[in-house]
Parts: sequence; C-alpha cells; structure tokens
Amino acid sequence: MKRIFLIGYMGAGKTTVGKNLAERMGLSFIDLDCYIENRYHKTVRQIFDEKGEEAFREIERSVLQEVALFENVLVSTGGGAPVYFDNMEFMNAKGTTVYLQVSVEELANRLELCKHTRPVLKDRCGEELKAFIAENLYKREPFYKKAAIVFNAENMLTETDVENISKTLEKLL
Ligand code: S3P
Repeated sequence: MKRIFLIGYMGAGKTTVGKNLAERMGLSFIDLDCYIENRYHKTVRQIFDEKGEEAFREIERSVLQEVALFENVLVSTGGGAPVYFDNMEFMNAKGTTVYLQVSVEELANRLELCKHTRPVLKDRCGEELKAFIAENLYKREPFYKKAAIVFNAENMLTETDVENISKTLEKLL
C-alpha cells in the first residue's frame, strides 16, 4: 500500500508532478484544493473571501484527515497545509512526504503568471511579490523540511523535465 503526500510552496509544481507521478506509479491522484472545491462547490478564493483563512485551514485539515484514509493515493496538498496544526506530523505518520523545493527567484517567476487564484498572495507583483515569497518561505521551510524526501524541483520548464523529475522520484519512493 502506498500513500504519498506532495508538499511545497505555491508554484512548486505539486499538481503537475503529482499527476504525472501518480499515473506512472498506478496511484489515484488527489489535489487537495480541488477536493475542497468539489466538496464545497466554491473556489478556494471564494472560501477565503467568504469564511476567512482560519475557516479554510480547518476545512483543509479535515479533508486531509479524510484522504489519509485512502489507499494507493498520491495527494498534492496546498502550500499552506504542512504549516498548520499538526498536519506535517500527521502526513509523516500516514504516508511518505515529498517536499518539492524551488528557489524564491524561480517561484516568483512562476507565480507572477498565475497568482490570481491564490488569495494568500493578494495580487502582489514584482519585487513586492518576491519579498513576500522570501519571507513566507523562510517561515514555512522548517515545516516543509520535515518531509521524508526533499527534492530539488527547480528545473521544470518542459514536459521532459516533468517526466524526468517523476522518473527520479519513482525510484526514491
Ligand atoms: C495556499 C496554497 C494554495 C491554496 C490556498 C493557500 C498557501 O494551494 O491551498 O490558496 O497558503 O500556500 P497551492 O499551493 O496548490 O497553490
């Protein structure tokens, strides 16, 4: 039985790598944010706007506990999930955690293009976005680094890069 949790900052490639790796390993793929959106019939942004971040974190925790009962799954979590409650210890107890590590510079480049769905980033851009990511990642990394596997996911430009990352991860898992 395999249960894998992919963690990392927004824009680290958790969903992209997660889908590919799950398929390669014959596991079901669950994106925790999509799971929440389907369950609540609202986008993550709407939940943040209507109920606030604290309520979102409670929801995130409860669905994490739910999916941790499933077998032969690969779960991509939201970037904040490992940081709240005892979620990181919980994931380590229930499966194999993999941290996709990416530099601030690279995250800022990736997130500049797709920050609108991410309420935590509050439509920051340019240097302000980069400074926010640097500070936020500094606070979050001690949690991320509790992962069983810390994997450098800096180079992920092409389909082939994603394939190669998946191939390497599969061997480690
Ligand atoms: C968040 C990351 C998002 C989503 C929510 C909060 C965070 O997921 O859960 O917007 O606090 O880092 P992704 O990491 O998939 O963007």
